[in-house]
Amino acid sequence: MRVTVIGTGYVGLVCGVGLADFGLNVTCVDCNQQRISALQRGEMPIYEIGLEEILKRCVKNHRLKFSTDLKTAIQQAAVIIVAVGTPEGANGKPDLSQIETVAQSLASSIQEYKVIVVKSTVPLGTTRRLNDLIKKQQKRKVKFDIVYNPEFLREGTAIEDFMRPNRVVIGSDSKEATRVVKEIYRPLYIIETPFIVTTPEAAEMIKYASNTFLATKITFINEVANLCEKIGADVHHVAYALGLDKRIGSMFLHPGPGFGGSCFPKDVRALVEAGKELNSPQRLAEIVLQINQAQSEIVVAKIDRALQGLDQKRIGVLGLSFKPNTDDVRESPSLAICKKLVENHAIIQAYDPVAVPNSRKVLSGEGVIFCENAYDAVTKVDGLVIATEWNEFRNIDLIKVKSLMKNPVVIDTRNIFEPQKMKKIGFQYFGQGR
Ligand code: UDX
Repeated sequence: MRVTVIGTGYVGLVCGVGLADFGLNVTCVDCNQQRISALQRGEMPIYEIGLEEILKRCVKNHRLKFSTDLKTAIQQAAVIIVAVGTPEGANGKPDLSQIETVAQSLASSIQEYKVIVVKSTVPLGTTRRLNDLIKKQQKRKVKFDIVYNPEFLREGTAIEDFMRPNRVVIGSDSKEATRVVKEIYRPLYIIETPFIVTTPEAAEMIKYASNTFLATKITFINEVANLCEKIGADVHHVAYALGLDKRIGSMFLHPGPGFGGSCFPKDVRALVEAGKELNSPQRLAEIVLQINQAQSEIVVAKIDRALQGLDQKRIGVLGLSFKPNTDDVRESPSLAICKKLVENHAIIQAYDPVAVPNSRKVLSGEGVIFCENAYDAVTKVDGLVIATEWNEFRNIDLIKVKSLMKNPVVIDTRNIFEPQKMKKIGFQYFGQGR
């Protein structure tokens, strides 16, 4: 079967590469010529474990190609997957202009029955509206079916998540389209992945509700952690005991400086906006956003207390990406913390294994020095902040770190170190909720 994936961003690229690895013939299309040329040369536009290796293998086996010719790619494929961006617009609602442009191309290019699979995260009701929009713009009324098939990929483990998902959600009114989508995911049957076949509306809601629920879980444990600090309890003992209750589950109960990234903040805001628009307020989601924003301020206040003021203090910051194993800094709590520290006249020495180039674009100007490695970042600092839990920081030589620092104060927002061990080495150590 021939599949065309429109959009070579995170979702499109992982999906295209994954389906080619499942044995399908995939063309990934993008209007960005530079991006396509780079992909044709085998250059990766994103950092994602395993992506490059599978991509190169599939290109070599002629199952995967890259193109800017959208019309031909649409006409040659039986299934067209829409994975263009839906960035947040100025009003907090997703900007659907890229999806609308794709709808125009679909309307003018389709000459025989196609299955259109929407993978981009879209506001509630968009799949059906898109169906109507394409129909309205079609000069010749060629039949097509539209499906909403959300992705649940996590950055850093996206390939693994694609190959071994917890579930596949198919939102469609068409039996034929459902059959075709099940067919493209056939290898997942073998590993007994549950398939949920439902309406497009329910599928759209599943995506927003999943992300909002996970963001709520993180926010809950962050607030519990803040309280644990006041009473001298270790939040990890609390989270572990909570997680053993099967009704709660142990995942996403790790405290930190707040959730970030390209999905959680945007999707929770989109749910809040949908609730306002449809007069069904999503109050819990609203408060989750407020608490999450305040979490980085709580961290900055903690650093301020630990260093007895921030003015002209030199602070090492390890980790800039919103989480490990990615160079993505979108809504990164680390960058929010760095900005607030600089506003308070601190001088930052920052290091991240891969996210420095992206961070430079956001944290340009005075106050931040980007370092070549973690040891440079801690040299002569008044305090050290662990902002992202990269594995290389877990294995850092702590004796060396202590000898390089001016004052051995560590604020570990991700709890990557053991408090007792840190104290034994001679650090003044502040964890998150312990
Ligand atoms: C998320 C969803 O997990 C994924 O299903 C969806 O498709 C896209 O959004 P991602 O943004 O890649 O994926 O990252 P994730 O691993 O979910 O972490 C999101 C944020 O929550 C990060 O800032 C992370 O540090 C934070 N987090 C996560 C915590 O603070 N504590 C936790 O226990 C888990």
